[in-house]
Amino acid sequence: MKQEEIIGTRQGDGGTTYQRKFEKVNEIIARLGRSRSALIPILQEVQEEYRYLPEEILTYIATALGLSPASVYGVATFYAQFSLEAKGKYVIKVCDGTACHVRGSNPVLEAIKKRVNLQGDKATTGDLRYTVETVSCLGACGLAPVIMINDKIYGQMTPEAINIIIDQLEKEDATDE
Ligand code: FES
Repeated sequence: MKQEEIIGTRQGDGGTTYQRKFEKVNEIIARLGRSRSALIPILQEVQEEYRYLPEEILTYIATALGLSPASVYGVATFYAQFSLEAKGKYVIKVCDGTACHVRGSNPVLEAIKKRVNLQGDKATTGDLRYTVETVSCLGACGLAPVIMINDKIYGQMTPEAINIIIDQLEKEDATDE
């Protein structure tokens, strides 16, 4: 089977977008090479591109590098830095380490979930806009309670401040589109 066909058969996921995104994987592989030692850097870059590692892409990478899909999948599941589940455009990490917990991380977490409309155990909103996770310490305990949105740290959070920050993200999104 030609490599393009693996992805071309996928239905109902905006075929052209998917095909176009696949070109990006080819680009990454062409740049980093097809040796086994390139696997982790390839997975890192692919994850940056997609925000997670879709199963089809892992199979594609395996084929391109001449590895078994199981071994590529094994590497992707072994390292905590890799995610096999889709994540939102904004990944919000809420610190629940001791300092943050004592200073009210829980009401902050609840306020975020309510604001982005996440129910039950779900971590990611259906529109793939937000993923909300808890972490044990973001290393900024002096600013507790702390959250991190993508790469940016926000300190001394309150449920009110959350609304202001998310309003801002929504505004940025509206100007992006
Ligand atoms: S406990 Fe939250 S930043 Fe350390």
